Amino acid sequence: MLALAVFVSGRGSNLRAVLDSPALKNLIRVNAVVGDKLYCPAFDIAKNFSIPVYSVGKKDGFISFDDLEVILKDFKIDLIVLAGFLKLIPDNFVRAFRNKIINIHPALLPSFGGSGMYGMNVHKAVFESSAQVSGASVHFVDETYDTGRIIAQRCVDISDIKSPEEIAERVLSIEHHLLPYVIEKIALGKVFVENNRVRVET
Ligand code: GRF
Repeated sequence: MLALAVFVSGRGSNLRAVLDSPALKNLIRVNAVVGDKLYCPAFDIAKNFSIPVYSVGKKDGFISFDDLEVILKDFKIDLIVLAGFLKLIPDNFVRAFRNKIINIHPALLPSFGGSGMYGMNVHKAVFESSAQVSGASVHFVDETYDTGRIIAQRCVDISDIKSPEEIAERVLSIEHHLLPYVIEKIALGKVFVENNRVRVET
């Protein structure tokens, strides 16, 4: 079983997609959910599944990334999944879990990524560019926003959409399939980093 920690900041629909995935049922276990707030709706999903939640940050009531590293190592976490987590992961935490942190981004990287490109900002930028396709990307996390190697992407036709909200809706439904798919491939040992490229075995 692959031991997962899922990092969230909001409603947690990707967390739910992972927890509800029939394909992942016997492959993974979510041992911790981590947020950058003291409360967000995703915590309710975690609690319904009896998964412990942690709030990481600098203020009172939060634990530091250093303490979190110790906790996740105690849990023997194999994979950290950023599912709508908005804070930048500190360099030493990335180094501690090199190639063990993945992120889902709601656009086709390397376009529409980077600092400030999260949530509706991404879909507004896609809308204003008049791009005819958008999609979702899952990538390894490195020290900067959205620049790690891409593991898998799916695209969706948006040539007929009328608003950024419609793009968000279409992309989200893709995310809910793409994230469990990538986690399944990692759990099955089918994701390789070779010659600076990611290869996913079918
Ligand atoms: C998703 O679009 C994810 O890609 C992103 O923020 C959104 C989070 O949605 N960066 P949810 O919290 O998983 O519902």
